Amino acid sequence: MPTNRRHVIATAVALSASTLVPLSAFAQKKIVLGFSQVGAESEWRTANTESIKSAAKDAGIELKFSDAQQKQENQIKAIRAFIAQKVDVIAFSPVVESGWDNVLKEAKAAKIPVVLTDRSVNSKDSSLYVTFMGSDFVEEGRKAGRWLVEKTKGQKGDVRIVELQGTVGSAPAIDRKKGFEEIIKADPKFKIVRSQTGDFTRAKGKEVMEAFLKAEGKNGINVLYAHNDDMAIGAIQAIEEAGLKPAKDITIISIDGVKGAFEAMMAGKLNVSVECSPLLGPQLMTAVKDILAGKQVPKRIVTEESIFPMETAAAEFPKRKY
Ligand code: AHR
Repeated sequence: MPTNRRHVIATAVALSASTLVPLSAFAQKKIVLGFSQVGAESEWRTANTESIKSAAKDAGIELKFSDAQQKQENQIKAIRAFIAQKVDVIAFSPVVESGWDNVLKEAKAAKIPVVLTDRSVNSKDSSLYVTFMGSDFVEEGRKAGRWLVEKTKGQKGDVRIVELQGTVGSAPAIDRKKGFEEIIKADPKFKIVRSQTGDFTRAKGKEVMEAFLKAEGKNGINVLYAHNDDMAIGAIQAIEEAGLKPAKDITIISIDGVKGAFEAMMAGKLNVSVECSPLLGPQLMTAVKDILAGKQVPKRIVTEESIFPMETAAAEFPKRKY
């Protein structure tokens, strides 16, 4: 338990004993959680923010929310502000993997527990955070790769792939690339002919896909692997504007499983979306309460996820929560 919270409870006990004030009057103090969000770059992120805000409300936790607009320096500033405000717990979804050690050491020195949600850091010192909850991004990349291997089974000739990567240096961009390549490298027919970041946004996904089509020509691309649905949706627009049929002329694989992707699949424009759940809010609030109650929390909490090929989209759509 952080010293500031311990201090409040100790003071409450002492005051209660000396002034005969019931202890329950002090027990009302709300837990304060500082949360630094990556930004609002995608449909996924909007759902993640909504999940955290509504779960905090339901759990009776006071949330100090800060949007970093996809900039690491903004997240560092926000975390320092949370430390200065002596919040009970800090949680954040790191925009990139590296460069967090100093600010995490400051939080540790202030005895404020840190929870990583969605994305992890690549710090060697795992004592700088209590737990990391979120998806296994490498496995998501593998699922995308396995789906492609199955889809092109028996197909002769090169399979020319273009890849829209997520934000440079972010855990999902690094891991989704790694997992996908790990699977496709087993067969030399798979060739990644172009790979560039689209920063997880629709606008960038469209822009980069336009450049890919220009560089490779209309018949030079067989598959698009996009690290998230938003970039795939942007790219679909570029493909249509180039006079091609998405999901037919170019097979499209993406990740997240947001409603926009289901709509694209039902319209026959996206072949498959690997699920990545943004609904981390309730789990986060439970972890915050457990940490402050001194309970043991697992170091890694992995989200369970599925994969949705277009054939399943219509049946699954009504069940989707984001
Ligand atoms: O970190 C999760 C990723 O970030 C999601 O796949 C993407 O849509 C988001 O912006």
